[in-house]
Amino acid sequence: MTNFDQTHRPDTPQSGRDYDPTRRRFLMQSSVASAALTLGLATDAVADSSSPSEMINVGIVGTGGRGGGAARDTLAINPNVRLIAMADLYPEKCHSMRKSLARRYDQRVAVDDKNIFGGLDGYRNVLDHPDVDIVLLTTPPGFRPSYLAEAVAAGKHVFAEKPTCVDPVGYRICLEADRAARAQGTAIVTGTQYRRQKNYMEVMRQIHEGAIGDVVSATSRYCTSGIWNRPRKPGMSDAEYQLYNWMHFIWLSGDQIVEQAVHNIDAMNWLMGGPPVAAYGSGGRFTRPTGSQMWDNVSIDYAYPDNRLLSFQCRQIPHTKGENGSVVYGTEGIATIGAANKGASIIDRSGRQVWSMKGDINAAYQQEHKDLVDSIRAGKPIVELAETADSSLTAVMGRLAAYTGQRVDWKFVTQQSTLDLFPDKLSLDGSLPIASYAVPGVTKLI
Ligand SMILES: NC(=O)c1ccc[n+]([C@@H]2O[C@H](COP(=O)([O-])OP(=O)(O)OC[C@H]3O[C@@H](n4cnc5c(N)ncnc54)[C@H](O)[C@@H]3O)[C@@H](O)[C@H]2O)c1
Repeated sequence: MTNFDQTHRPDTPQSGRDYDPTRRRFLMQSSVASAALTLGLATDAVADSSSPSEMINVGIVGTGGRGGGAARDTLAINPNVRLIAMADLYPEKCHSMRKSLARRYDQRVAVDDKNIFGGLDGYRNVLDHPDVDIVLLTTPPGFRPSYLAEAVAAGKHVFAEKPTCVDPVGYRICLEADRAARAQGTAIVTGTQYRRQKNYMEVMRQIHEGAIGDVVSATSRYCTSGIWNRPRKPGMSDAEYQLYNWMHFIWLSGDQIVEQAVHNIDAMNWLMGGPPVAAYGSGGRFTRPTGSQMWDNVSIDYAYPDNRLLSFQCRQIPHTKGENGSVVYGTEGIATIGAANKGASIIDRSGRQVWSMKGDINAAYQQEHKDLVDSIRAGKPIVELAETADSSLTAVMGRLAAYTGQRVDWKFVTQQSTLDLFPDKLSLDGSLPIASYAVPGVTKLI
């Protein structure tokens, strides 16, 4: 992985609102070239699709469960969008997704056989395709930072699933990609759907306007009874097995706190107005399959500015009680925010419910893609990568605190840590030694 010098959030607007569409193509050409020079990549042009009737072409990298969901979401909510290119390690997965999408979306699934790509390099063909306007990045997270950087350098608008990084070096690559996208006028929307879910938006608005007084602390839980495990198939190389069973390898997933619980951590950063200053915590493993690097549970105290505390917990242990959501404690009341469709509510100091609202997560999944396309058509591309990278790194910071048994602060992870989990050499038929899981007091903080 490339190491970038930039360790601070770029001093740029938080959205594309300041963007002047008349300068768009010039900006794109000049800054795509400079981003490409920085990243050592080839340049490409971006289609200008300002009219709502003009077709926007989508390519996808990673045609698994969420890839299928993201493709369906954009086709469902955006009438003049079509899918034209696909890549996955296994091209047969692209073929079966194409078939399933075509049943519903017919001619808007316009992927010729020649635009289906396999293997570890397949993604490059999607990025190099001159007609692709938006690329959906839905591989396992370990690839996200470098694919994001390359997609931006190729001049593409991007939808990137969460988390956007699994280590501090990946975080800095995300910040650089965010800066480059803003400079050239291309969009990056991320798969943090709660930011677009109406009950989340409304409860956050009310809390920020003082509905529960001053926020003092919060608890957030992502506790379930387990996650999938894909046993090794005969003939799989070390590398292919890890890619196939990616959840269990930290360089690919970041462990459950990063891969799953980033949703709740992102909501808490939204609540608190930014990332925490430090993390301290612990956890362990009792039930994971042999060879898995994942832990079963992690509990972290996150200290936020202005003396506010988040008590966070995630757990994946069979036969335990599931709980997924957050509770926010204020001087004048309590807000409860349930994950998925569980809704949100506020009670006052006497315990009386003063507000509640149901959730609709499927609408939020689609809204991400509507906002992305609308922002491109309006010439005001949304760029929200830095915010999601902050939340991904907040989760990484918690994992590092638990894995090492140390107190870890934001300055360390943003500016000093050199942790880069991506393998030096990766090929599908290659050997890729499987390191053991982390042990506090032994695993070093780097
Ligand atoms: N926002 C949400 O609620 C949500 C829900 C589920 C998953 N996700 C995220 O979506 C991403 C994918 O998860 P999933 O559940 O679809 O996993 P999955 O295993 O079902 O699919 C991943 C796909 O990527 C392919 N792949 C792996 N490496 C690749 C590479 N280098 N190039 C091309 N293809 C590659 C795999 O072959 C597989 O088809 C993860 O980041 C996950 O966290 C988000």
